Amino acid sequence: MSAPRTGPDALQRVFKTFADPTRVRILALLQREELAVQELMGVLGMAQSRVSRHLAILREAGLLEDRRDGTYVFYRFVAPTEGPWRDAWDLVTRSLRDGPTTGRDAAALSRVLEDRAARTRNFFESVGPEWDALRKVFNDDALRAQAIGRLVEPNQTVVDIGTGTGILAIEMAHLGLRVIAIDHSRRMIEAARAKMTPETRDRIELRLGEASSLPLNDCEVDAAFAHMVLHYLPSPADAIREMMRVVRPGGRVVVVDFMRHDHEWMRQELGVTWLGFSAEEVKTWFREAGLADTRCDECAGLSSSRELPATFIASARVPQRP
Ligand SMILES: C[S@@+](CC[C@H](N)C(=O)[O-])C[C@H]1O[C@@H](n2cnc3c(N)ncnc32)[C@H](O)[C@@H]1O
Repeated sequence: MSAPRTGPDALQRVFKTFADPTRVRILALLQREELAVQELMGVLGMAQSRVSRHLAILREAGLLEDRRDGTYVFYRFVAPTEGPWRDAWDLVTRSLRDGPTTGRDAAALSRVLEDRAARTRNFFESVGPEWDALRKVFNDDALRAQAIGRLVEPNQTVVDIGTGTGILAIEMAHLGLRVIAIDHSRRMIEAARAKMTPETRDRIELRLGEASSLPLNDCEVDAAFAHMVLHYLPSPADAIREMMRVVRPGGRVVVVDFMRHDHEWMRQELGVTWLGFSAEEVKTWFREAGLADTRCDECAGLSSSRELPATFIASARVPQRP
């Protein structure tokens, strides 16, 4: 049974729920990032039973949603929108600014995100140029062509985030685009460099960098592209915010990735962090980043050799700034 939203009973529940400092810390963390129980245990330094008990209370209070990603369950904060729950949360948020654990929790959360990124980086550092053979299961040439078609005109500058072996960057260079290709794995950058021809070398600039803090100035490019990268990122929402930051007003952001699925083999064989995403989730990230005219189209699984999840192409426009 969920907690009452209004009336005297609600007020009592509100006070009880927010009276526990650990519950408030959990909410503050989940407001910033979707986290699994194990990750929360690491940040809070608490045993699973304690963390799970708090999560159950918060979920019953309607302040949390959970989402299964293969064998993991991730929790996210649902902000109360009205009544005493919202008033109390506003008050709690203000008091959190100089709370004794706020700085420590933020630092521990950054470490969780760094760990997620390091797992992926290690995977691609070990794979290097062999990625081209591994990625054949995607059989995604047609998808890429369609996605590029949503992009921009020749001579414009685009960023290819998580360029890998540069497959997309090279295709875009052939279409006359100037490409800044970014990856956080040195080995992948070297693999991409090795594939360049004199023609593409002039049009592609390789940069080492993180998707959550791109080595690009504000509004530096006409479009940003992330092809089969989001499911490797510690925080896809942060990456989409960054894409919005680096694209000029009127420019486009395009993401190609898997719809939510349960192909656990992808964790072991391809080192993925997330088992895809729902269209709603992607649209929410785009909206929260401030993007406009979002479109998200689902495409059927692509490979004939192995059963693969469906994919999506999501695109949006960076609005003109006032
Ligand atoms: C699945 S590959 C995709 C490569 C390419 N876009 C393609 O479609 O073939 C993912 C790439 O993203 C890079 N990557 C993963 N996490 C990243 C991060 N946090 N920041 C930058 N690059 C990242 C990996 O090193 C890898 O080269």
